[in-house]
Amino acid sequence: MEIIARNLAEFEAEASRFAGSLTPSSQNAMLVTLSGELGAGKTAFTKAVARALGVEEIVTSPTFVLEKIYLLPDKKLFKRLIHIDAYRLEKGADLIPLCFDKLMQDSGNLILLEWPERVADALLVPSKKVFFTARSDGSRSISYD
Ligand SMILES: Nc1ncnc2c1ncn2[C@@H]1O[C@H](COP(=O)(O)OP(=O)(O)OP(=O)(O)O)[C@@H](O)[C@H]1O
Ligand SMILES: [Mg+2]
Repeated sequence: MEIIARNLAEFEAEASRFAGSLTPSSQNAMLVTLSGELGAGKTAFTKAVARALGVEEIVTSPTFVLEKIYLLPDKKLFKRLIHIDAYRLEKGADLIPLCFDKLMQDSGNLILLEWPERVADALLVPSKKVFFTARSDGSRSISYD
C-alpha cells in the first residue's frame, strides 16, 4: 500500500492512522522498521506516532543517543514507545548495548527503528516495514509492505 502525503499535516495524519492500527502481539514486541534516505521523514513519522499514542514530551531524533524510551500514558496497548536510530551502527551486534533482544521479548514495547539496513543481521524477527521517499515536489511517499 502506498500513500502520498502532500504536506506535513497529511503525513502526520497518516502516521496517526498507522499508530491506531497497531495492536500488541501476545509474545513479542511490535517492531516497525522505518526505511528511507536522510530527511525522508522517519523521525517525523515517529514523532507523529508518539503524539497519537499520547506522548506529550518532545520527541527528538535519537541519532546521537541511539535510543529513546517514552512511557505511554494509556497502557492498555503498548507500555513503551522505543525509538532507535541505527544510522551510526555497522552491524546487528551493535544493538547489544541497548539490550535489543530483551526489548524484543516484551510485548508491551512498540519499537520504531530508523536505518534497519545497518543492523539487518539482527532483525530476523517479523516486523512491519515502512518505506519513505521524498519526492521532488516536497511530498512524501509512505509505503507498507
Ligand atoms: N510532506 C512532508 N511530509 C513529511 N515531512 C515533510 C514533508 N515536507 C517536508 N517535511 C520535512 O521533512 C523533514 C523530514 O526529516 P526527518 O528528520 O523526519 O527525516 P529522517 O528520515 O528521520 O532523516 P534521518 O535519516 O536524517 O534521521 C522534516 O523536517 C519535515 O518537516
Ligand atoms: Mg531520523
